[in-house]
Amino acid sequence: MSDKQGRNDSCWCGSGRKYKKCHALIEEKMAIYRSKACEVPPLGLLKTQQQIQGIRDSGKLNIDLLDFIGDYVVAGVTTGELDRLIYEKTGELGGIPATLNYNGYPKSVCISINDVVCHGIPSERVILRSGDIANIDVSTIYNGFFSDSSRMFCVGDVSAEKQRLVDVAKECMELGIEQIKPWGFLGDVGQAVHDHARKNGYSVVREIGGHGIGLQFHEDPWVSYVSKQGTGMLLVPGLVFTVEPMINMGKAGTATDERDNWTVYTADGEPSAQWEKTVLVTETGYEILAY
Ligand code: MF3
Ligand code: CO
Repeated sequence: MSDKQGRNDSCWCGSGRKYKKCHALIEEKMAIYRSKACEVPPLGLLKTQQQIQGIRDSGKLNIDLLDFIGDYVVAGVTTGELDRLIYEKTGELGGIPATLNYNGYPKSVCISINDVVCHGIPSERVILRSGDIANIDVSTIYNGFFSDSSRMFCVGDVSAEKQRLVDVAKECMELGIEQIKPWGFLGDVGQAVHDHARKNGYSVVREIGGHGIGLQFHEDPWVSYVSKQGTGMLLVPGLVFTVEPMINMGKAGTATDERDNWTVYTADGEPSAQWEKTVLVTETGYEILAY
């Protein structure tokens, strides 16, 4: 983009600033990191102001859907019913559920209960019971822009042990997000998540991670939550990705259901918890686009 653009022209990103006062500076800095053999994102991953607004609007819808579904998460409801509610509400709000028919995924939401780590498929045969912890993972396409976030819901009376897992998993996500700043590294996020989980006696799922998002459901970078500080992709303003660590009460290992090829369980049958936000790297830190 730099070669098509004069230094006094307004920047391609839509900031309203001259290129020389905006991405010329950012691109110069990226070149310095590249020369030091850092993993620098391609310019195409950096969102324009217009794209950011699109993802923000999509994220607003995603937030509204999670706020909406909360009232229905009670003992006795089937996850199939919750899926139907999400499907209908998404349509009412003018969006499309991003998971529906995605790589053959059959439903509008993922609902993962207890020892299900992620990608639980809603079903009329799965009934929520008091004591369950459930992750509800909603993702939306709105005006062509993608957003993705998830929350844990505690059904009825949940044991103190499971409640602590849910709380610590949330702290892990939050501590990871607090690491996000321009010219930091993606590995800073994973290190903070992993440290906090281990300090609390939990483990972090290694083989499933977060992802870039915005123009597509899953973009680069892939986001590990067991990564090391100062490693991985350079964080540059305009990058958008999810922070969604999966925290296991027992061991980190997982197994995928051989019948549906989607549902991921903990290998040891112990519970797992996950929270997810879609986050933008800004010039001063970060902005949450969906939670
Ligand atoms: N929200 C999940 C994610 O983190 C959705 C996975 S794709 C699905 O990307 F098809 F399983 F839903
Ligand atoms: Co996601």
